[in-house]
Amino acid sequence: MNNWQPDSWRSKPILQQPTYDDAAQVRQVEETLSKYPPLVFAEEARELRRQLGEVSLGNGFLLQGGDCAESFDEFNAPKIRDTFKVLLQMAIVLTFAGRCPVTKVARMAGQYAKPRSSDEETRDGITLPSYRGDIINSFEFTEAARRPDPNRLLDAYHRSASTLNLLRAFAQGGLADLHQVNRWNMAFVENNPLKERYQDMARRIQDTLEFMDVIGINANTSATLHETSLFTSHEALLLNYEQALTRVDTLTGKPYDCSAHMVWIGERTRQLDHAHIEFFRGIHNPIGVKVGPSMEPDELIRLIDTLNPTNDPGRLTLITRMGADNLADNLPALLRRVKAEGRHVVWSSDPMHGNTFKASSGYKTRDFDAILREIKQFFTAHNEEGTHAGGIHLEMTGQHVTECTGGAYKISDDDLAEAYKTQCDPRLNADQVLEMAFLVADHLRNS
Ligand code: PEP
Ligand code: CO
Repeated sequence: MNNWQPDSWRSKPILQQPTYDDAAQVRQVEETLSKYPPLVFAEEARELRRQLGEVSLGNGFLLQGGDCAESFDEFNAPKIRDTFKVLLQMAIVLTFAGRCPVTKVARMAGQYAKPRSSDEETRDGITLPSYRGDIINSFEFTEAARRPDPNRLLDAYHRSASTLNLLRAFAQGGLADLHQVNRWNMAFVENNPLKERYQDMARRIQDTLEFMDVIGINANTSATLHETSLFTSHEALLLNYEQALTRVDTLTGKPYDCSAHMVWIGERTRQLDHAHIEFFRGIHNPIGVKVGPSMEPDELIRLIDTLNPTNDPGRLTLITRMGADNLADNLPALLRRVKAEGRHVVWSSDPMHGNTFKASSGYKTRDFDAILREIKQFFTAHNEEGTHAGGIHLEMTGQHVTECTGGAYKISDDDLAEAYKTQCDPRLNADQVLEMAFLVADHLRNS
């Protein structure tokens, strides 16, 4: 890897970083973090890379989801458990419908840093630094709260470690039992206003599990029914944090960013000659890049060449976030070009970030139908180009929030105030996200 060093990004232009008052304190925190234990083991990141390699070849599906931004205030077990449960519920539906393995990657245990459209926010004539995520500053609109605090990097590390610990316990300790997961889905279907639409599949999954039970395949005899694997991911925005958690793996001698299994580059920081691309090209994790409507085919090929020069399947996931109105115009040319050049990538759809708007109530929201429309168009484009629709990337929560409009419960603009809790982008709630899973399942089965 020519001229790459864990800190070679520091000589490149960089966007979306906080300005701290005390540079010496930042250096001290980086020093401390660099001596802490890694949060993940490189071998786990390689396992995810292997699974994503299968996805890129058409033999699997990637389900990635979680909060837009995790919050220090909502750092508790029920919150973590509920999102974990919903991810599992979605996964069982998608696995059954698509007849293919589903790789589950949570936007959790480190999703704390946010890019912002503006550096400053003004309210009632007062201007303060924008909220950039709890790893940097606090949401409250006061001067003290908005001042970037380097100690938050350490807080974020510790919260990520505890979150990951609980996720591992849930995954291995019985909460992931498929019988249990499908019972939750049956309860969801039973209560849903559109239950006829979803009942059939939930019943068929139940029948399958019962059949397997009769012939002796159950949670006691088969680990795959009892436990699961769940990987973690976040946008690696703060490169000093990511550098401090980058370690040379003793088994392979290669550097891995051990803050999460998978990390991605956001839409606003993917400039080819900038710091984020520089840092990412040297780490060996599976990585993602957000791809918005401005991406041109030539630029995409240069990006792929920089980040995956050996064309290794599973290394690179392209997360498209075009907007329901733009996708049909923009995505097919990219698919065609990447296919023609023989590049292996996972194509995943983020149907959230291109469909955000301000409702007349003043809340930032997204509409269920637009989200679904982007997903449908994503599958259509792949069917037409003969490429594999490899995954979805959702902003979601297991809790009953009212942040996105629409869905079976017909959340309206007027309902948003009821439980609008996000500090950043609007998330699908537990009911909306399961409904989405059943609807996506139809496309997966047909594709
Ligand atoms: C996000 O995933 O929360 C995000 C900021 O996305 P994007 O970089 O695609 O805007
Ligand atoms: Co977001």
